[in-house]
Amino acid sequence: MSKHVYIKTFGCQMNERDSEIMAQLLAQSGYIPVAEQTDADLVILNTCSIRAKAEQKVFSLLGSLRKQKKQQPELRIAVAGCVAQQEGEQIFRRMPHVDIVVGTQQLYQLPEMLGRLERNETKREISCNLDKEFTIPPFQRLLEDAPHQLAAFRKFVTIMQGCNNYCSYCVVPSTRGREISRPVADILEEVRLLVARGIKEITLLGQNVNSYGCTNAVAEEPTGFADLLTMVAAVPGVQRLRFTTSNPQDLSTELMQCFRDLPNLCPQFHLPVQAGSNAVLKRMNRKYTRELYLEKVAELRSYCPDIAIGTDVIVGFPGETEEDFEQTMDLLETVRFHGSFSFKYSDRPHTRSTDFSDKVEEQVKGERLQRFQNRQDAISLERNQEFLGKTVEVMIEANRSSGSQGRTGTNHIVHFTSPTNLLPGDLALVTITHAGQHSLKGELADKEKSNR
Ligand code: SAH
Ligand code: SF4
Ligand code: F3S
Repeated sequence: MSKHVYIKTFGCQMNERDSEIMAQLLAQSGYIPVAEQTDADLVILNTCSIRAKAEQKVFSLLGSLRKQKKQQPELRIAVAGCVAQQEGEQIFRRMPHVDIVVGTQQLYQLPEMLGRLERNETKREISCNLDKEFTIPPFQRLLEDAPHQLAAFRKFVTIMQGCNNYCSYCVVPSTRGREISRPVADILEEVRLLVARGIKEITLLGQNVNSYGCTNAVAEEPTGFADLLTMVAAVPGVQRLRFTTSNPQDLSTELMQCFRDLPNLCPQFHLPVQAGSNAVLKRMNRKYTRELYLEKVAELRSYCPDIAIGTDVIVGFPGETEEDFEQTMDLLETVRFHGSFSFKYSDRPHTRSTDFSDKVEEQVKGERLQRFQNRQDAISLERNQEFLGKTVEVMIEANRSSGSQGRTGTNHIVHFTSPTNLLPGDLALVTITHAGQHSLKGELADKEKSNR
């Protein structure tokens, strides 16, 4: 009889990719993915610890799983990802109904761990080592999707793991370990296999892609991120290429010029600034200034005037004064980001800023966040209105009776009516007729050209 697995993913795209890998590994052990937690024999929570709230969500879901396990004693519960890495054994103490704790480098062990449980060799399994010498296994053998998964047209490819930047507020260096780059040959091989299976859009993933190649990537020639991007872009069949995330401190001219030189590199850049005040950036251990950030934005726009720039911002970092915050607001006005993710600062385990004095009051953080988000919303709407009347290339994501949904190269969602039989992954030219805050609306422009 087949077994059913339910995987719930929290946090970032690296976790999404890791969840896919777990699903693929488990498919080989006969596990079929299900959409409902209550239908599962195995529940995996792939967790995030970036802010306190993210971690609380995990523990509250684990709490609610206790009931399901009482009614269904055979149910296995696994905790993976950054909370697993951070808490280790503690998870069993707080949540004794958990069977497996598996860290961020150890997810490949999951089938073996489950096997030992199923054969009753052990009662609980934990594997949370973080190894400096860790290498990401080649994925060829994992590439087949678990059965019953919808055919996809875009995929994430992890190019590096971990982070060495030690921003003072961030758990990632401790939950994901030291920065490790995957060998170029493995990445290219994975991209080629994906394209051969019909994948049209690739997003390269790493916490800090600019320093790709600085740590144990095996290549005959030294390969920086711009070189890697150029090689991936040249793989026949890669119609759209994106990447995330990039740290402004070592954003090179070569990388910025890729937006001018690589036609399939989408004109979209997520460039987290975190704060607009140099004093705050310094305490965050971000190694750039506001001025350098603005210079990079200007340079980027000189190579690719229509590039959509997005960012991440933390408000209420310890010691952030009203004047510091005004500098963040001012930076928003200057750059006019197409969109941003903004967060209230949150103390995290094993981070330096947790010990900083001058914590900003919760209420003040809330007010600053609101002010930032209100202004960003207005700017996003104005940015979206710049698309009115323009004809843009859209990659189809879904077709419903009510119309089609797709994405522009700039990563804006577009809704449009399409009488043709466009499939997910097809490209269409759409003329934008309406701009909302979160999406655009349009009409199919040129059916001939569209059905490529
Ligand atoms: N590698 C990326 C960020 C990954 S974490 C980079 O260097 O920019 C995603 C975002 O979460 C960060 O950009 C930051 O804005 C936010 N974040 C991280 N730690 C946080 C904390 N302790 N409190 C609030 N927000 C945090
Ligand atoms: Fe965290 Fe900084 Fe690394 Fe980004 S660069 S993952 S914010 S430590
Ligand atoms: Fe969260 Fe870990 Fe990603 S903390 S943001 S899941 S690297």
